[in-house]
Parts: sequence; C-alpha cells; structure tokens
Amino acid sequence: MFHKPALLIKDPELIKQILVKDFNSFVNHVGGSDDHDPIGRDNLFLSKDGLWRNLRKKLTPFFTSGKMKSMFPFLDKIGDNLLDHMEKMSLNKNCVEMKVKEKLSLFTTDVIASVAFGVDANGLNNPKSEFAYISKKIFDFTLWRGFEFTALFLLPEISKLFNFKMFTKEGTEFMAKTITHVMNEREKSKVHRNDLIDTLIEIKNSEMRNNDEKPLEIETLISQAAVFFSAGHETSSGAATFVLYEIAKREDIQERVRVELQEALMKNDGKLTYDIVMNDTPYLHQVFLEVLRIYPTLPFLDRECSNPNGYSLKPYSDFVIPYKMPILIPIYGIQRDEKYFEDPLKFDPERFSPDNIHKISTFTNLPFGTGNRSCIGERFGLMQSKTAVIKILMNYRVEMADETPKEIRLAKNALVIQSEVPIVLRFVKDELVK
Ligand code: HEM
Repeated sequence: MFHKPALLIKDPELIKQILVKDFNSFVNHVGGSDDHDPIGRDNLFLSKDGLWRNLRKKLTPFFTSGKMKSMFPFLDKIGDNLLDHMEKMSLNKNCVEMKVKEKLSLFTTDVIASVAFGVDANGLNNPKSEFAYISKKIFDFTLWRGFEFTALFLLPEISKLFNFKMFTKEGTEFMAKTITHVMNEREKSKVHRNDLIDTLIEIKNSEMRNNDEKPLEIETLISQAAVFFSAGHETSSGAATFVLYEIAKREDIQERVRVELQEALMKNDGKLTYDIVMNDTPYLHQVFLEVLRIYPTLPFLDRECSNPNGYSLKPYSDFVIPYKMPILIPIYGIQRDEKYFEDPLKFDPERFSPDNIHKISTFTNLPFGTGNRSCIGERFGLMQSKTAVIKILMNYRVEMADETPKEIRLAKNALVIQSEVPIVLRFVKDELVK
C-alpha cells in the first residue's frame, strides 16, 4: 500500500482465524488519526485497543431488538415523508422517475438524525436541511475527497502528514454544535429517550478513559455520533438502491417480493410493523443478502496485526505477520468468485433460500464483516433499507427508465461501492393495500 507492504488474505480458513479465532491479535482497523483530528481518531470504526473495547461495550445496547422496535415508528413516519416527496415529484399522478440513491440518502439521513440525534432534520421536504447538506458533502467523492478518505482509512501516516480529517471543518463544526446542543438540552430536561444521545451522556458521565488514561474529550463523544451518521446512511441507502435496481430488471423477483409483502400486510390489517420488516418477509431478506453479495458496500475488510510479537501463519506458511502490518480481505472479489458462487454475476436470491443457504461456504460472504469487530449497525442498517424499499413497493412498481444503466459500472474514485452514474428508476403507482 504505497510505501508499505500489506498482506492480502483470500483463504476462508485464514479469514476465520484472523477475524474470529485469533481476534485478539487483530483488534484494530488500519486507519485512524491522531491529535490533529480527534473525530477521525476516536470514533468506533477507527478507535483502537482499550478505547475501542470500552466504546463498543457502551454502544452495543443501542442496537438491541427492543431498542430497534421502539425506533420503528420514527422510520415509518419518515417512510411516509419519502412517499409524500415522491408524490410531489410525480410527472403525472401515476408515475415518477428519480435518482434513487439521492432520495434514499435523504431518507436515511433523516432516520439517523431522528433516532440517533433526536433531531427532526426533514431533509426530504426541506432542501435547505443542514443535515442533508453535510451528509452529501461527506460522501461527495470528488477525486481529492476520495484520496483523503482512502488515506484516513488505509494510510494513517499520510493522513497525518497532509493534515487530512474525517470531516471538513464545516462538517466538524456542524456536528459539534448539533450534538453539544442536543446533549445539553437533554441533560437539562432530564428526559430519557433511550437513544444515542442518552448513551453519549452516560459515556460522558462514566469513568471511561482514552488509551492514554486521560478522561474523554467532548470530541470523542461527538465522533461516535459522527461515525453513526456517516457509516449509517450511505451504506443503507446504497443497499436499498441496488435492491430497487435489481428488482426493476427482474419482474418475476419483484412480483414475488410484492406478493409476500401483500400477504404479510393483509394479516395485519394493511399496517406496516417492525415484524413485517424484520421477520415476516423472508424472501425480501434473501433479495437483500444477494444484493449485498454482489454489491458489498465496503468492498474489503481490513485489520492490522496488533500483536507486538507478530503472528505466525504456520502451518499455512512460514511467514510471520509483523506487528502493525495491514491485512486486507477482498470481500468484493471473494463474493464474486466462481469458486464459491456458481455463475457469480447472476442475481439469484435463491442462493439464500432455506434449502440452499447451507451450501454457501463459511467465511465467503461477509458484507457486514464478522467476529467482534463486525458491523455494529447490521440490523439497524437492514431495518432502515428494508423500510424504504417496502414503503415504496407498497405503493409503486419499479421499472427501468430510459436513463437507467443496463449494467452497473462502479465508481472508481469512491472507497465504498457506488454506481458510476446516478441510478434513475421509474416508479408506477400500484398500491398493494387499497
Ligand atoms: C447495509 C448497511 C451496512 C453495511 C453493508 C455495513 C458494512 C460494514 C462493514 C463491512 C463493516 C466492517 C466490519 C469488519 O471490519 O469486520 C462495518 C463496520 C461498522 N459499521 Fe456498518 N454497515 C452497514 C450499516 C451500518 C449502520 C446503519 C451503522 C450505524 C448506525 C453502521 C455502523 C458501523 C460501525 C460503527 C462500524 C465499526 C464497528 C467497530 O469497529 O466496532 N453500519 N459496517
């Protein structure tokens, strides 16, 4: 990787060893920052060792199913805002064409702002929403921003040298101002909402220390909110966009998803619930898993060797992985490898049916990573992406438009998987529950 060697691991057995069995020798991600950028240094994704362990323990309860269930009414409401927005954009009463990712990013930004920050951002109906503006800036991968992000996540030395930061000055100031304000108001009101803000207040008032045994700075708290914001919206809106794209191409699959959804809704008087989204639409879940196999939002996983004595690869090899050597696990390549998936580029949700799923070799399909450092927001991400897709399919059929790319070409300057051109789709009114 530029100036230093890294190790690329493709063998599922070794992947298991690194991510799970010998996790204690590979605790950290490669990237991270230092004092010049506390938000890039202290967030859950890039924080290291003891600080990471403490933060993970404190933040995990935010994602229990009980918590997610209690968040669902907010998602349902924001889903209705998305439908209102589509209605307003309609070319005529029956049909709307839109750049899907752009709209779903507004949806996921509103969701995160609401359930994590307790803020009604309403970027969907307010084009001047600061949340929407800032989130667009973070993921607007200009060539320079792409390089900055790559350095932050993979080349920490370079990011220090060039003073690269996770967020722009504007983004950092906005985050700091918003979180500090919401935390202060919450503490004054003594109201508990069981959301991320409550958790951050708890961390602030705890005895938690950073890796230098110093009390946590306010930036450490802000950086958790910031990483939820950035990790939480782009990944989920991307997955939902690719789902809509793939089912627009495959009418038969879309029909099956809609029939399943209609049956689940009918059993519940037409009302959407948390259980329908998360438990009672198994075929839709298969569709999501297949989309994340072909388009894993993060195309590779990374770890660095955190064992000061190095790590021996015996009996596989005589090589000893040196302390701090970066390890890359190319999940995009593995998940599209015909060695593990027959006809790998074919979109086929049947791979994940109850009859077939056991045929998938372990450690060859890891869109959320695995082990102690896997994605903390996996279920939350699925909940919000599925809610957006379901809300749309309850009201529209989705079709290819004239502008829709026939095949997806991936953007070259983004660290995450994105289409090179915006995916435009046509939505034709067809309500499932009249
Ligand atoms: C479809 C949606 C998502 C995908 C595909 C995804 C994917 C991933 C992947 C591949 C990792 C790295 C795992 C590893 O290294 O083993 C990760 C980590 C992480 N994700 Fe997600 N993610 C999604 C949604 C979310 C959401 C909604 C949030 C937060 C609200 C989130 C927050 C995080 C955080 C904080 C980490 C770092 C965890 C740690 O280091 O302890 N993700 N995600």
